[in-house]
Amino acid sequence: MAKCTVKLTVLVLSLSSLAACSSDGAGPAEEQAPSLVVSTSPAGFPKGSNVERAPADNALTLDRATLGKRLFYDPRLSRTNEISCGSCHQQAYAFADPNAISTGVEGRTGTRNAPSIVNAAWGKSFFWDGRAHTLEEQAGQPIENPLEMDLTLSDAVTRLAADSSYVAAFEQAYGELPSESSLQKALASFVRSLVSGSSAYDRHLRGDDSDFGPQRKRGEALFLSEKA
Ligand code: HEC
Repeated sequence: MAKCTVKLTVLVLSLSSLAACSSDGAGPAEEQAPSLVVSTSPAGFPKGSNVERAPADNALTLDRATLGKRLFYDPRLSRTNEISCGSCHQQAYAFADPNAISTGVEGRTGTRNAPSIVNAAWGKSFFWDGRAHTLEEQAGQPIENPLEMDLTLSDAVTRLAADSSYVAAFEQAYGELPSESSLQKALASFVRSLVSGSSAYDRHLRGDDSDFGPQRKRGEALFLSEKA
């Protein structure tokens, strides 16, 4: 496959039924939240939408994913202001790095390939050795890794807190000033919003063969057989 197309699926859900049952506790921001970033699980993945996969203390909302997207592409999260998450996880390559190993700050190279992070919402452990168990836990590691972004989380928070537009965005998404925890949560929310599930093959797995003719079927059979 030459290319992999990734779409950010944004569905607008009416929250009026939720608002109707909520008590006086809900703040104005919560009551007015117009939409969530929702995708059902791709064929062959565990059941449940990406929203359902999010942990209870980091519900997936459009504000959080949008803040996370901004952080994902912000090189200020690296000590030298040159590397962002998107430097290694490149959208044009399904959010992977086309190079065998990635380059971090000051030309430092790591030892592993940066994999695609699409559909990570359904992952159970992260990194090649599975050392991170949640996307929230994962998100802080490249920032602090001396070979990648080389910035302490506390320095990252100091930088964000000095930018009034970030302060406003954190306030809107998490109801608090930028913190190490909300920084990691926002990045995890963006990663959870990256879903690919409607390729011709995905549709074939769901029983729709309108774009999966005989040639593709022969290819699939060959790919799955031991003959090849
Ligand atoms: C310098 C390149 C580089 C940067 C910058 C970088 N990553 Fe990565 N990322 C990697 C590499 C390499 C791995 C695999 C490392 C390993 O397995 O030990 C990885 C792994 C991951 C994974 C786990 C994927 C999986 O399925 O196991 C996620 C999620 C991820 N990165 C998100 C991020 C986020 C969010 C940021 C920004 C805060 C970021 N990365 C910044 C190179 C990078």
